[in-house]
Amino acid sequence: MQVLVLDSLEAVAQKSLELLGGPRIAVSGGTTFAALFRHWVPEVRRRTEFGEKLRFFVVDERKVAFEDPLCNWKSCFEDLLLPAGLAEQKAHFVTNARDYASLLQKEFEAAPVVFDQIFLGMGEDGHTASLFPGKATLTDLDSDVIDVTDSPKAPSKRVTLGLKPIRACGHLITVALGAGKVEMVKRLQAGDSTLPITLAMQGHPHATLLLDLAAAGL
Ligand code: 6PG
Repeated sequence: MQVLVLDSLEAVAQKSLELLGGPRIAVSGGTTFAALFRHWVPEVRRRTEFGEKLRFFVVDERKVAFEDPLCNWKSCFEDLLLPAGLAEQKAHFVTNARDYASLLQKEFEAAPVVFDQIFLGMGEDGHTASLFPGKATLTDLDSDVIDVTDSPKAPSKRVTLGLKPIRACGHLITVALGAGKVEMVKRLQAGDSTLPITLAMQGHPHATLLLDLAAAGL
């Protein structure tokens, strides 16, 4: 796992953009990505106008209406897709595993679900996507997408990519910002396999951990 420590949000955004090669990209929700999306817009718009076909999908979604401020795809749509000229990808909004599986089947056809990049966030309890410590979702290595009914982080009902497609992606990038993430960053780097983020990143042939100074404990 490559670890990169950058000294500002702008520098993290710039580095993450360099890693965003496409064409098929899955992005997480939460405050980290809401902040990054705004920085990504000009470059994603430029590339889209240049004819690149970047295709964005959600890593995990909270089971709420699109208009709900908690909706991850609403944030991605408003902060990235719409201003970048990719408004039609609003149609990638999903709220259950069945619909997400059928969207992925349309996208990947008969091929396995292999995103070119997956961008993960990380919670202060070491969760990633909607895969939480101690839950049965961590032992499911077969499903591409999983319905979650008991998320300890609200809302409790969610849909998430499973460990299978997360581990299979071309480049797995985890972004952690702020002092609240220090402890989990240390445990991830120490290989604590009770943490979902470790189960996702450990052993991935092309994994990058992007940190700001605070998350690195500096
Ligand atoms: C979600 C997520 C989740 C998130 C982390 C980090 O929908 O809740 O996708 O895995 O990435 O909880 O969240 P923050 O960026 O808000 O710290």
